[in-house]
Amino acid sequence: MVEILDSNLKEKLISEARQARELAYADYSGNFKVGAAALTEEGEIFTGCNIENASFGATICAERVAVFKAVASGHRRIRAVAVIADTPDPISPCGICRQVIAEFGAEAEILMANTAGDTRVAGMQDLLPAAFQFRR
Ligand code: THU
Repeated sequence: MVEILDSNLKEKLISEARQARELAYADYSGNFKVGAAALTEEGEIFTGCNIENASFGATICAERVAVFKAVASGHRRIRAVAVIADTPDPISPCGICRQVIAEFGAEAEILMANTAGDTRVAGMQDLLPAAFQFRR
């Protein structure tokens, strides 16, 4: 894939995701805190954390919170999403989040990180080839 973000912007996104992670509401997973930051086409950054619920299925991931905040603020194109957790390897977005990111950023760059400082970058095309599209 062709990387579009310069290293300063990557660091900034990961740092915003790291800060957002502190706000996670993760009582039901043993405090598995996740942070995310979405960069819009216009250059604005929206952050998110996972928000769990007593009704487990109502839990929402950090990535979707970040993307939905961007969309609800009027943005429609996502250039990149950073995600971070305290995992052995950089955390990889779940399937539902991949489909959501693809809706607004089919070509988005995904910056995966862990709190130890390891990172991995992948394009949405690699993470979710053949994303569902609503066509009839
Ligand atoms: N989680 C995320 O926030 N992002 C992911 O990509 C994977 C999982 C959250 C959801 C739940 O609060 C916790 O991590 C355990 O699944």
